[in-house]
Amino acid sequence: MSLPQNVMPSFTPDSELDLLFSPTLIPANVKAQLGSDLHMRPLAKTDITRSHLSVLSVLTSTSTLSESQYFQAFESLRACPNTYFTLVIVSRETDQIVGVGSVFLEQKFTRNLGKVGHIEDIAVDKSTQGRKLGLRIIQALSGISENAGCYKTILNCSDANIRMCYLTVLWQCTDGWFLFAAFYQKCGFEKKENEMARYHNIADRPLHTPRL
Ligand SMILES: CC(C)(COP(=O)(O)OP(=O)(O)OC[C@H]1O[C@@H](n2cnc3c(N)ncnc32)[C@H](O)[C@@H]1OP(=O)(O)O)[C@@H](O)C(=O)NCCC(=O)NCCS
Repeated sequence: MSLPQNVMPSFTPDSELDLLFSPTLIPANVKAQLGSDLHMRPLAKTDITRSHLSVLSVLTSTSTLSESQYFQAFESLRACPNTYFTLVIVSRETDQIVGVGSVFLEQKFTRNLGKVGHIEDIAVDKSTQGRKLGLRIIQALSGISENAGCYKTILNCSDANIRMCYLTVLWQCTDGWFLFAAFYQKCGFEKKENEMARYHNIADRPLHTPRL
């Protein structure tokens, strides 16, 4: 789908979109804290045309997908009801995505058949970083997880974020200024245990894919 140059696409309301899950599951108090120029909603089937992949590219490498590949991935998420919740923040001015994030819910046999929410793939477009969109995405995903009955919500984050935290705390100690904790601490998360990974040799994995 391409538009003539210099023609801004108009904002598409939720009612005209094929959404991954019900928008009523996004906590209203979080949506209310966004600027009036922004809208938070579930991922839509056509979001490949609204810069979804380009926003994700601030986080990691993203390959070019055809519309049919994108639709297929979208439908495989939707085929698992009450499991995958990907939400986006859209600019009302451009109808383009400026922030994304996901939580998926894991059913356990332990913890009295408890559930755990796993937050993944948080990314905010460079042009809108620093406007608390990352925070709002985390708050909304944690709210979805909590309202679905999860007893905890967890996420992995890069060492760089932790190192940045140590550096900034050191700076605070020597300077006696203010505490500048890393992003996820500011979102209410605390460091807990370690992550381990084993990568698999999938035949069609592109050679340039980083180990993320
Ligand atoms: C990390 C990211 C999601 C933050 O989104 P954002 O909208 O710019 O951040 P927010 O404005 O919501 O920041 C919330 C708070 O965290 C702080 N913060 C944000 N990024 C930070 C960082 N990298 N290090 C330390 N603090 C950070 C902000 O200063 C703000 O603090 P304040 O409440 O005291 O003002 C965004 O910068 C991004 O997409 N980065 C690239 C992808 C990435 O690293 N994703 C996370 C994967 S581990």
